[in-house]
Amino acid sequence: MKIFVTGGAGFIGSNFIHFILREHAEDTVVNFDKLTYAGNLANLKDIESDSRYRFIQGDIADIEVVRKAIPDDCEAIVNFAADTHVDRSILDPEAFLRTDIFGTRVLLEVTREKKIPRYVQISTDEVYGDVEVGQFSKETDCLHPSSPYAASKAAGDLMVMAYVRTYNVPALITRCTNNLGPNQYPEKFIPLAVTNLIEGMPVPVYGDGLQVRDWLHVEDHCRGIDLALRKGRVGEIYNFGANQSPEWPNVKILDAILQQLGKGQDMKTFVKDREGHDRRYAVDTTKSTTELGWKPTWSLSEALRQTVQWYVDHPEWWKPLKSGEFLAYYKQQYAHR
Ligand code: NAD
Ligand code: DAU
Repeated sequence: MKIFVTGGAGFIGSNFIHFILREHAEDTVVNFDKLTYAGNLANLKDIESDSRYRFIQGDIADIEVVRKAIPDDCEAIVNFAADTHVDRSILDPEAFLRTDIFGTRVLLEVTREKKIPRYVQISTDEVYGDVEVGQFSKETDCLHPSSPYAASKAAGDLMVMAYVRTYNVPALITRCTNNLGPNQYPEKFIPLAVTNLIEGMPVPVYGDGLQVRDWLHVEDHCRGIDLALRKGRVGEIYNFGANQSPEWPNVKILDAILQQLGKGQDMKTFVKDREGHDRRYAVDTTKSTTELGWKPTWSLSEALRQTVQWYVDHPEWWKPLKSGEFLAYYKQQYAHR
């Protein structure tokens, strides 16, 4: 399959490109990425000279650039490109609207024009909003996004469904829970915690730290996307999540990291809560299991142990990121906490 991946220099997109090149010898990938602060070509260094891989820098919201970049023989678009950090969307939502809504619409429009046979929109469990203990969001549930990020992703999803219905664009959507694994930008909770602790800095815990995320190893997510790409039905939505039981609230995640790094409870700092903070996400994965044959393979303790160790082993990857742009953001973020 000839795949046009957008946002492939980020965390999940770069893991997905590695997954495709490893699992499908006949596939080729064009990676189209704007290289925002979250895009990092170091994530793809080991494959940059692979003849099956090509990188193009560009913005998904620029239709002329997208038109030129997508090869005529493209067989599928997989859209990871997004502004993704909830806290940044609270500080300034504008970029989120441009990329996550308008950019999605541009990709759908070009899919229509070029009659590309497949389009996969990588969405998130955050579009459902938070759910009570014991409840699981289904693909058919109403959307209740809480943050500007989640609202922009929800609007992107609605645009996908509109293009399927109105223009018969062969698109489908995946919605996954929080990912963990190598190459995640250190603004997100787990890499922020690990790298702060390695640097001897405390870890900010929002509110009471009892919020629940259903952490899934990025490799399990990539396998799910790959199955949806090849076997998913047009116009359908597929949830992916670990269905962790018992659930791990944020403080339990942090305790496991503290223990692995040999650090004490004094490194945990409770700070003012995130505005509109969703309490718990959980998704029903029956459909992706029965229709796609997908199931997670990593246990959370093993995924977390591997992830923490990866950051310990790769300071050359994250140290350059925790400077300049990151420090300016971090200062602004925690000034009001
Ligand atoms: P990320 O922030 O690590 O990477 C996003 C990538 O998109 C970066 O490489 C960035 O340069 C690129 N990008 C941003 N704006 C662009 C634009 N206008 N044009 C082209 N490229 C642009 O994000 P991630 O965590 O890898 O998330 C990837 C996708 O998966 C997103 O759509 C996100 O909503 C979704 N998702 C993420 C998670 C998670 O836990 N991280 C869970 C579920 C779904
Ligand atoms: O659920 C999927 C979503 O997961 C994706 O769609 C988003 O792109 C991704 O960023 C992630 O969103 P979260 O807001 O859940 O992830 P984050 O890593 O920012 O936070 C995880 C939890 O940890 C959340 O409850 C907030 C909390 N937190 C986060 C940070 C950065 C803290 O307590 N302290 C922190 O410093």
